[in-house]
Amino acid sequence: MNKMLIPLIAGLLCLSPLAQAEVKSLRGDRPPNEDSRPPIKPQYRKDGEVLPRDFVQQPPLIPHKIDGYQIDLRYNKCLSCHGWDKYREAGATKISQTHFKDREGNDLADIAPTRYFCNQCHVPQANAKPLVENTFQPVESLKEK
Ligand code: HEC
Ligand code: HEC
Repeated sequence: MNKMLIPLIAGLLCLSPLAQAEVKSLRGDRPPNEDSRPPIKPQYRKDGEVLPRDFVQQPPLIPHKIDGYQIDLRYNKCLSCHGWDKYREAGATKISQTHFKDREGNDLADIAPTRYFCNQCHVPQANAKPLVENTFQPVESLKEK
């Protein structure tokens, strides 16, 4: 078939009433400026004890609120309490020594750029209903007895 005809035929098919009936947006008839899900307002837990870990390599969960904590090129609010020069005064856990290695495993004198954006791995906890059911169990060696 002539190559020019294929787009023409495809175009005509789209215009046919049959094709029109099948075209439907995944979000239904709702206008794009309206969210289709009910708004979720997470209730972050109050500052408290550190949370148990489920596996040894897990980035520990953040046991406090982080609303408005700035992390950008010039300033990292998390380091103002978790940095090695600050943790004692703040009573916070010092950042892990693993955060001072670059990706080749070389030791660095300051936090590795790959670890700078803490929230890539560490997340606060809200008492929200899980979106997906989860039956995950911690490894035996970490289970609290
Ligand atoms: C004002 C000081 C302060 C700031 C700022 C702060 N934290 Fe904390 N953080 C703490 C303290 C104190 C604890 C110890 C538990 C507690 O008292 O809530 C803690 C605990 C944690 C823990 C748990 C450690 C563990 O061993 O389980 C993580 C993870 C953490 N913070 C991450 C962060 C991240 C990421 C940020 C920035 C978004 C941040 N924190 C900013 C004070 C702070
Ligand atoms: C790429 C992922 C990643 C990033 C980014 C990251 N962390 Fe972690 N963090 C981890 C993992 C995984 C652990 C647990 C294993 C370990 O110690 O390396 C951890 C451990 C910790 C701990 C607990 C240390 C202890 O002695 O138990 C603290 C506190 C912490 N991180 C704070 C931070 C802060 C603050 C930042 C940002 C400046 C940050 N982390 C960035 C993955 C990350």
